[in-house]
Amino acid sequence: MNTVLAGHGLVKKYGSTTALSGVDVEVGERDSLAIMGPSGSGKSTLLHTLAGIVRPDDGQVLLRGERIDKLGENRLSALRRKRFGFVFQFGQLLPELPAEENVALPLMLEDMPRGRAVERARRWFAPLGIDGLEKRRPGQLSGGQAQRVAIARALVVEPDVVFADEPTGALDQTTSTEVVRLLTSVTREQGAALVMVTHDADVAAHCDRILQVRDGQITHYTQYTAA
Ligand SMILES: Nc1ncnc2c1ncn2[C@@H]1O[C@H](COP(=O)(O)OP(=O)(O)O)[C@@H](O)[C@H]1O
Ligand SMILES: [Mg+2]
Repeated sequence: MNTVLAGHGLVKKYGSTTALSGVDVEVGERDSLAIMGPSGSGKSTLLHTLAGIVRPDDGQVLLRGERIDKLGENRLSALRRKRFGFVFQFGQLLPELPAEENVALPLMLEDMPRGRAVERARRWFAPLGIDGLEKRRPGQLSGGQAQRVAIARALVVEPDVVFADEPTGALDQTTSTEVVRLLTSVTREQGAALVMVTHDADVAAHCDRILQVRDGQITHYTQYTAA
C-alpha cells in the first residue's frame, strides 16, 4: 500500500478521560477506511487527530512520511486547507452563497480569483449528479443534494485525504447509500484517501477497510490486502 496518512501510537486525554490510548492506523492512495464504534469511543477524536485539528498528547501523525503533528498552527491550518477535504454531518454550507460559490470557497481562500474558482468548482457538479443546481442556495437543496455539494467542496482542492465525520448521519437510508457511493467512488477517482466515521454498518461496508474502536482502542481492524 502506498501510505498517504499514518497515525502511530496516538494518545489523547481530556482530563481523566482517555479518548485515544495508543492507536495505530494507516490509509493509502485510493484507499477508504471506515471508523466505527459506540458513542464516546473516540471516533471523532481519532479523525480530528489524523486531520491535524486535535494535537495528540503522544504519538505521531505522518502525511506522506512527514510529521505534521508538531507543525505550528499557521502551517498546520494551511496544510489542512490545501491537502485535506472535510465533510461533516450537516450545516457546513454557507446559507447566503449559491452552491457553486460554496464549492469554490476553499480555492478562494487560497487566493484564486473568484471567476476561476467558480469555473473549477462547476466541474464537480456533473460527477456528483448535481448539475443544474449550481445557483441554488443551501436552503433550496435537499439533504442529499447538500451533502453532494459538501463532497464537491471537499474535493475541489484535489486533496490527499478526505475526512468525513458521519457524512450520512442526517440522511434517510436510500439517500445515505447514494451519498456514500458517490463519496467513495469520486474520492477514489480523484486519487485521494478517505477516512470516514460512521455508526452505520451499511455505510461502512462501502469502504475498503473497517476499523472498530472502543474506549480509545482498536478492537478490530480489517487490514489492507493487495487485490
Ligand atoms: N473537547 C473535549 N473535551 C473533553 N472531553 C472530550 C472532548 N472531546 C471528546 N471528549 C471525550 O473523549 C471521549 C471520546 O469522544 P469522541 O471522540 O467525540 O467520541 P465519538 O466520536 O466516538 O462519539 C468521550 O468520552 C468524550 O466525552
Ligand atoms: Mg463523534
